[in-house]
Amino acid sequence: MDEQAFYKVTYGLYVVSAEADGGRSGCIVNTLQQVTAEPIRLAVTISKENYTCELIEQAGRFAAVALDQRADLPLIGRFGFRQGRDFDKFSGLPIERDENGMPYSTAAACARYSCRVTETVDLETHLMFVGEAEEAEILSEENPLTYTYYRTVIRGKTPKNAPSYQRKV
Ligand SMILES: Cc1cc2nc3c(=O)[nH]c(=O)nc-3n(C[C@H](O)[C@H](O)[C@H](O)COP(=O)(O)O)c2cc1C
Repeated sequence: MDEQAFYKVTYGLYVVSAEADGGRSGCIVNTLQQVTAEPIRLAVTISKENYTCELIEQAGRFAAVALDQRADLPLIGRFGFRQGRDFDKFSGLPIERDENGMPYSTAAACARYSCRVTETVDLETHLMFVGEAEEAEILSEENPLTYTYYRTVIRGKTPKNAPSYQRKV
């Protein structure tokens, strides 16, 4: 099997976030997508090792922002390469809350969404959360950041707990 072929699967990049029991975090994902139209549902796949996974399970909700091309490596590093358990990833960033109190950062974000989790699928290493969209808003007219742009223009890397991580590449 040529694992390079999986790099032809296209994605955007998002920060998915949640808060529960006084803890809050968010992580970069490339696995968010709209999966139905009526009602609008989004699905996102999160590693069980990520603090954000635990928080979404507890809150039963998640917020998400679509990153745009203003996103830089320090922002992606903060949300995509550091664990939020002992560090408040939102500190120093412009932060808002949705109607259910889920935090999200508007930094380098072109749109935002809020979902109530309706299904959770156990995929061994990851949980896939399916959520019904309850809020959505355009935040800027900048171009959304694609995974291809992140890898080829920003020259960003992918950590091991991202589903799109590939050992040999
Ligand atoms: C480009 C990129 C894509 C990623 N995609 C995912 C993903 O889809 N699912 C996931 O669980 N982690 C993904 N990650 C890894 C998480 O963002 C990372 O493990 C994060 O530090 C977890 O933070 P937390 O422990 O505070 O939740 C991705 C990271 C990067 C840089």
